[in-house]
Amino acid sequence: MSSRTISTEAVPSSVLHASLSIDPPNIVRAQGHYLHTSTGTAIYDASNGAAVSCIGHNHPRVKLAMQQQLDAVEYCFAPHFTTPAYEKLAKFLVDSTNGKMQKVFVTGSGSEAIEATIKMARQYYVEKGELQRTKFIARDRSYHGNTFGALDVSGHKARRTIYEPMLGGNTSHISPCYPYRDLRWGETTPQYVERLAQELEDEFQRVGPETVCGVVFETMAGLTLGAVASVPGYLKKMKEVCERHGALFILDEVFAGMGRTGSLHAWEQEDVIPDLQTVAKGLGAGYVPIGALMVGKKVVDVLDRGTKAFVHFQTYHGHPLACAAAYEVQQVIQDQGLVENCKRMGEYLGEALRARLGAHPNVGDIRGRGLAWAIELVKDRNTKEPFPVKQKVAPTIHAAGLQKFEIAVLPGGGVVDGVNGDLVVLAPAYDVNREEVDLIVHRAAKSIEHVLGPTTVAAKL
Ligand SMILES: Cc1ncc(COP(=O)(O)O)c(C=O)c1O
Repeated sequence: MSSRTISTEAVPSSVLHASLSIDPPNIVRAQGHYLHTSTGTAIYDASNGAAVSCIGHNHPRVKLAMQQQLDAVEYCFAPHFTTPAYEKLAKFLVDSTNGKMQKVFVTGSGSEAIEATIKMARQYYVEKGELQRTKFIARDRSYHGNTFGALDVSGHKARRTIYEPMLGGNTSHISPCYPYRDLRWGETTPQYVERLAQELEDEFQRVGPETVCGVVFETMAGLTLGAVASVPGYLKKMKEVCERHGALFILDEVFAGMGRTGSLHAWEQEDVIPDLQTVAKGLGAGYVPIGALMVGKKVVDVLDRGTKAFVHFQTYHGHPLACAAAYEVQQVIQDQGLVENCKRMGEYLGEALRARLGAHPNVGDIRGRGLAWAIELVKDRNTKEPFPVKQKVAPTIHAAGLQKFEIAVLPGGGVVDGVNGDLVVLAPAYDVNREEVDLIVHRAAKSIEHVLGPTTVAAKL
């Protein structure tokens, strides 16, 4: 027998999984809203992976568009060529902003879109002759990606800590907009907004207003702070501070964009227009790895009057297959009115979660917008004291969901201080119906109650 005969005995996986000691479920098929494991379990995908698979799995229209693109052109180098696929997707995105964004740079992920954004912001000031602008202001417990530039902007302590000595250190972080924990007793929303705007103003003054390239915020905080929509007037006020100091207002919509919050661009609900914007997850819905930087007129004009060339490229940027798939995903969303469904079903999901879990003694907050919802879990509802991180509450609920209740939810950690504080995030597909929402709420509640005990307290959220 050849020494290369393949053994039928179980061998350790060669994949560097999230844990070296736990093998994750092996997904052999994905269809609609279900993930099918090698052991025959059908898991309801209530989180769309990391808020990605927004039109469900195995969509025939997207597969056909990808096949047609493969038949036409699978790859060419974007700095030297263009393709109908790249042109069509970019035009769709520009049109979707009514021309507020004028140019699109397609990347392979959300992190890469943020990297491109950081570079574009810097180049904008270099072209304007403001060479001293090198800094960014972002928010504590934010997440903008895991590559070094994007991680430097991110404010999530647990994800940064071991790399901290290697990060560029060009970003400082201010408080997020997080009323559940930060709104003071007796404080009105306008007063809270004023306080946060003053903190941003103070930060500009501390670092030197003339040294700041831009302010980078998630329009709606995503997986790390847990589906926190901005309070009314907040983003508008923050943009005013930013503009006062000539810095760019940058919105990261990798999580919140492309319909997830009930409007195609989350900023449409906030009465602000960013100078630079990123999108990713819902853009390609998981059929391809894709993200994009969208560039507003103000920045395009400066480049146009200057060098006329973005000093950045990647081998796979503007990938035609990714663009063709994303374009078709967006057509499906449009044709089926899925952004509107997202808004409608989101409202129903919020109501159903509050009705089912609002009285649980460890449910501190239930919040969300569109089809992005989070349940913040606390040890004590009155003091809002979190569970200690070592108790692994959210990861245990996630595991219970997969192993016992056939549901995939997203566990989040560090919501209180970047380390402690547990979340369960739900981000189902835009085409869910009421029966599915009921199923999601039932299974998610079962998973939570399995770990934390039943819902017994009379008071509801
Ligand atoms: C707001 C935000 N920005 C950036 C990223 C990074 O995107 P990716 O994981 O595609 O690199 C994420 C990912 O979760 C995100 O939620």
